[in-house]
Amino acid sequence: MDNRLFFPATERNRKSIGEVLSRILVKKGFILEIGSGSGEHGVAFQKSFPEIIWQSSDPELIHRKSISSWINHEELSLKMPQPLDIDVEKTPWNVPSDILLSIQGIISINMIHIASWDCTKSLFIEAGKLLNDGKFLMLYGPFKINNKHISQSNKLFDSSLKMQNKFWGVRDLIEVSEEATKNGFIKDEVIRMPANNFTIIYRKFSS
Ligand SMILES: C[S@@+](CC[C@H](N)C(=O)[O-])C[C@H]1O[C@@H](n2cnc3c(N)ncnc32)[C@H](O)[C@@H]1O
Repeated sequence: MDNRLFFPATERNRKSIGEVLSRILVKKGFILEIGSGSGEHGVAFQKSFPEIIWQSSDPELIHRKSISSWINHEELSLKMPQPLDIDVEKTPWNVPSDILLSIQGIISINMIHIASWDCTKSLFIEAGKLLNDGKFLMLYGPFKINNKHISQSNKLFDSSLKMQNKFWGVRDLIEVSEEATKNGFIKDEVIRMPANNFTIIYRKFSS
């Protein structure tokens, strides 16, 4: 059965995110994606970066079914594992040991503003446990800078998120980075992306 979902934003942002990935990925190991949604990013990046193994995940069954359908549709089932059921708040995450042995990074695209603040905290706590020194946690999405929106459209988007769920909202980069620091990450790169988004790359670093 074809359970593929189509998230239009993935069409718009995959090229610019892929350009960042092409700079930071090393040519082996697993990438663990948190909140993979439809799975369109996962299959696109698995095809662009065949040397790595893209491990997608999502807590929603409808999304995991979509991811599986995309994997089948793109004929990647021999290369790309089936999605994991990971809710960032349900810890410890159930990640197979072969992934833990060669994980090179964790990526979450457009997730932390569509989940509670506790999800951001949990994301950094668990990522801090799973990643060794030098490995990265990459976030993509809208952020406030110095607690200010960078555009009117982001401000409106933030209000619309909060109307849907009072615990959602565009996060402030300083507050997010404080959670990173608490869990052994340094902020390595802040990259301005199209459509008022950012990619933030944190690296695990034990002093
Ligand atoms: C806006 S969608 C983004 C999906 C995809 N990353 C993309 O860019 O198209 C947000 C995703 O975060 C997932 N999500 C929400 N709460 C989550 C949680 N507590 N743990 C992990 N993922 C979560 C949702 O199921 C959804 O797939």
